[in-house]
Amino acid sequence: MNVKPDFNKNANQAATAPAFLSVYDLHAYYGESYIVQGVNFNVHEGEILALLGRNGAGKTSTLRAVARLADPQVTYGEIWLDHQPLHTMSAHQASMAGIGLVPEDRRIISGLTVEENLQLAQIAPPIGWSLDRLYDLFPRLGERRKQEGVTLSGGEQQMLAIARALARDIKVLLLDEPYEGLAPVIVDEIEKTLIHIKEQGITTVIVEQNAIRALELSDRAVILDTGQIVFDGSAAEVLKDEALRAEYLAI
Ligand SMILES: Nc1ncnc2c1ncn2[C@@H]1O[C@H](COP(=O)(O)OP(=O)(O)OP(=O)(O)O)[C@@H](O)[C@H]1O
Ligand SMILES: [Mg+2]
Repeated sequence: MNVKPDFNKNANQAATAPAFLSVYDLHAYYGESYIVQGVNFNVHEGEILALLGRNGAGKTSTLRAVARLADPQVTYGEIWLDHQPLHTMSAHQASMAGIGLVPEDRRIISGLTVEENLQLAQIAPPIGWSLDRLYDLFPRLGERRKQEGVTLSGGEQQMLAIARALARDIKVLLLDEPYEGLAPVIVDEIEKTLIHIKEQGITTVIVEQNAIRALELSDRAVILDTGQIVFDGSAAEVLKDEALRAEYLAI
């Protein structure tokens, strides 16, 4: 299995990534704890990639490293988004460059309505989808635009968190456990919106404990185990391979 991306380096050229989003030999620490241990993966433009693995495998840490958050601290490696070197950027710069992270805890701002949460995301460029377009995709948010965001149901808060990412002009949506704690019918609803978002050309990386649901949605999958990639292939392959799922996903 070849998991190392085809990174082109030559004397005349800085490293350029062949894929839309490329993570190359990424190493990251929390203090002394070595967590992300040489991770490589590629995401192609417009596809959905499932980033899977057991609890503590390093999925959230990898997403946070790609989004350039302060923790974990990246000590080595390269991250390229559409020919831009994310590994040289701050979190703010990565957001400006087109990374939209939807964290597991959703981070809805209390004291603000649904609409104010969205408007806050649009306070500065690069501005993405208009409020009307966001409410077309998430009619429940339109109906509740004047309601305080934190009083929404879990599913609605997840929709708001995704809508807020789209309110910025993003190229890649990074979703950390978007289905967590949600009823299957709400997962269906969110899944439909993720398909629509893909049809609009946005690239997605989804981390999910509900691996089957994530795989059914995804084009490709990578599996992390103790901070290293142990599988890189099609989502269909993981769905078919029970032994692989039992070994690394415990499902
Ligand atoms: N802030 C932190 N400080 C120290 N160690 C951390 C911190 N955050 C995570 N870790 C450790 O890093 C490892 C990977 O954690 P991470 O949250 O990336 O895993 P994960 O794959 O997202 O797991 P889960 O499925 O439970 O969300 C774990 O051993 C975790 O205890
Ligand atoms: Mg996690």
